[in-house]
Amino acid sequence: MSTERELAQSHLLPHYTKGAAWMSDDIPIMSAGEGCYVEDVEGNRYLDGLAGLFCTNIGHGRSDLAAAAMKQMEQLAFYPNWGFASPPTIQAAAMIAERTPNDLDDVFFVSSGSEAVESATKFARNYHVSRGDESRYKVIARNWAYHGTTLGALAITGIPKFRKQFLPMLWDGVRHVPNTLDGAGAPGTPVGEQPCITELEQTIIDEGPETISMIIAEPIQNGRGAVVPPNGYWQELRRICDEYGILLCADEVICAFGRMGHWFASERLGADPDMITFAKGVTSAYQPLGGFAVRRRLVEETWDSELGTYNHGSTFGGHPVACAVAVANMEAMRDEGVNENVLANEDYFQAGLTQLAERHDHVKEWRGMGYFYAVELMTSRAQGTELSDADRAALQGGVLNGFVRESKLLIRPDDRGATMLTLSPPLIADRAVIDDIMSRMDQILTRTGEWLHRADGPGH
Ligand SMILES: Cc1ncc(COP(=O)(O)O)c(C=O)c1O
Repeated sequence: MSTERELAQSHLLPHYTKGAAWMSDDIPIMSAGEGCYVEDVEGNRYLDGLAGLFCTNIGHGRSDLAAAAMKQMEQLAFYPNWGFASPPTIQAAAMIAERTPNDLDDVFFVSSGSEAVESATKFARNYHVSRGDESRYKVIARNWAYHGTTLGALAITGIPKFRKQFLPMLWDGVRHVPNTLDGAGAPGTPVGEQPCITELEQTIIDEGPETISMIIAEPIQNGRGAVVPPNGYWQELRRICDEYGILLCADEVICAFGRMGHWFASERLGADPDMITFAKGVTSAYQPLGGFAVRRRLVEETWDSELGTYNHGSTFGGHPVACAVAVANMEAMRDEGVNENVLANEDYFQAGLTQLAERHDHVKEWRGMGYFYAVELMTSRAQGTELSDADRAALQGGVLNGFVRESKLLIRPDDRGATMLTLSPPLIADRAVIDDIMSRMDQILTRTGEWLHRADGPGH
């Protein structure tokens, strides 16, 4: 056992990891990365099929991003964004504003996605109060959506297992409504008549429209597995928000900065939100940075009001080093055509997933777009049988993770609403890397199929 592993097990408290798994011998300790691949301290090489955690968009090992950080640290390591600004913070804000759709021209920085979501939530409330609309404070979010884990963001997150033990501590202003997968209704139902819209609108009416501050949704929802909305869904959200005086926030913590082949997925979907939250890919995770972009006129209305301020801040929001890295990341993505790479290879990626589904009868379907996909499992597509409870529990309880580890393809075995494998590689992945992903996926699915059809398994 390596010394690092012993030290980790003795002193490092991991995120969302079972103690027994952490204390097992085989936790990988990652020590190096290059492009789409990472290496652990024992020299094992892995394909990073999740871009770290949906964030190393430009890939690992970029010395230009390191140089940008170093230059800024030498110049001015830190000055806050409270009544001051620094050149990289200004430049990052301007570059982001230039890339957002429509008139989302003001950018507020924090250091993570959870803070971004809380900051947008507070901006919406602050805006309504500045207009004398004091009764608006509730937020509508969607079932199975992940919006972060700090207590304010966790209240908005719609994933029961993350919320359960904290429920008494979560504010009571959030209502969850069906997402576009579980709330799609019968095939062929027009989007405006699907439960994902009708139940949302009914919730607003039941709660009292004058109490609703914000609707928040991801363009492509991660929880429940890369859920792509039907055409017209975001236009319906806009219509509802306009009708009832609610602000619309697109949570693009995963979707922005190229994951869907555009700087912002809202642009690709023709969405017209009032705010967009971002984090992760803004720096390709070379520094922690998050934030939200908002319509300039909402800021002006706030400033022109008696309140006169957006009453919120954090020490590291707009950190000059993080912002210098964001600038270098956006410049490199632009100069190297990273978004174009995603769009050029999207069909190829999807063709690979279709082939996998054809080869493996226990693939229920794949969903997603750009470089963001979920493969949902069942027992047999031909026979229309879903996973038994026992198989589902075992697959989610470690069996699938074991097959994933064996393949050295770092993807996520996901249990949020179904049994799935989530893929989200760095956006520089070319066709050779995509082929490598597909061949390792084939290995994982083959092992899963053998396991599902084992003679002595539960229910067999
Ligand atoms: C859509 C979305 N919002 C918010 C968050 C929270 O971000 P963070 O983990 O940086 O707090 C995440 C994290 O994955 C996310 O996917």
